[in-house]
Amino acid sequence: MSGYKIATAEASPNIALIKYWGKRDEKLFLPLNGSLSVTLDAPIKTRTTVLFSDQLKKDEFWLNERRQTEEESADVVRVLNLLRSDETQLRALVVSFNSFPSSAGLASSASGIAALTVGGAHALNLKLDPQALSIIARQGSGSACRSIMGGFVEWTKGANQDGRDSYAVQIEPHTFWPEIRILIAIVTSQKKEVSSRVGQTRTVKTSSLFPQRLKEMDKHLSAVKEMIARKDIEKLFLEVMRESNNLHAVMMDSWPPFFYLNDVSRNIIRAVMEFNSGSIKAAYTFDAGPNAFIITTVDYANELNNQISRISGVEEVLESKVGQGPKILQDDSSHLIDVKAMTPVSFSPKQAM
Ligand code: PMV
Repeated sequence: MSGYKIATAEASPNIALIKYWGKRDEKLFLPLNGSLSVTLDAPIKTRTTVLFSDQLKKDEFWLNERRQTEEESADVVRVLNLLRSDETQLRALVVSFNSFPSSAGLASSASGIAALTVGGAHALNLKLDPQALSIIARQGSGSACRSIMGGFVEWTKGANQDGRDSYAVQIEPHTFWPEIRILIAIVTSQKKEVSSRVGQTRTVKTSSLFPQRLKEMDKHLSAVKEMIARKDIEKLFLEVMRESNNLHAVMMDSWPPFFYLNDVSRNIIRAVMEFNSGSIKAAYTFDAGPNAFIITTVDYANELNNQISRISGVEEVLESKVGQGPKILQDDSSHLIDVKAMTPVSFSPKQAM
């Protein structure tokens, strides 16, 4: 086997407290507003192995044991092209496993693109800092740029046309708030009918409420940063819930309207509201899917988990802490590619990750 370069990385999705929705540049994935998220931890992760080799004729991408079509591989190939310098014309085999259902609003694209960016850069021995890595990940899938870092992460909207000032910044590390727990209520594992990319464009073009949302985003973002710094749970959780409601309202206000929340999601909202009667102890938030992310503290996590698990239509409730950024797995046995055969290996992510 002649020249090849390989690396394996693991990354986690993130859940946005202040959401990214709408682009000012669709090619460069430049957002209309800044956003802020929490990086998640086990049990939801993506492991990705990237192999660059002069034996490969074209780029190939496998996800959860299925070879992806050209269309399904477009985001991955865009990231590979950004990583490959002029002198590196090596094609790549990318093999990825999620420990959770893909395309169900669990931000699988975020963890996948983050693991690919970090793994690919490592394989090619590029010495890029997290900011530069986040700029590359952003162009694979916007929200992925925030998964390049752990803890609480802001994605700056930037003002430059070339996107060099639109990157991820760590606001607080994962150790900042160890009491925080995020419950992930899996409502369905089915693929969504409107992709977030199509949905965003539709909202920007058609929603008359959207300009009003945009006007207020800077204010909400600075308020949330301050609430995190002060660990002001009640104010933060209230803001998080109202931001999620606002996002899903502009989706419904788009034309034609589209919905990610379903009856089960709404029953989860009702259960969290009831749990919060008296004082706010938890916050629900939803991305582009029906699964609920419920932020609370260690004191309430079990009780809330029991209540949410009982809701009809909730398949499973996973529990996460605030997680760290992507990791390179140094041990050769963690590769998802048989290097000699240049084929994916079989892998059981639930047990191994
Ligand atoms: O990066 P995308 O295209 O998957 O968009 C994701 C947008 C939301 O998840 C709904 C919000 C966010 O900021 O993550």
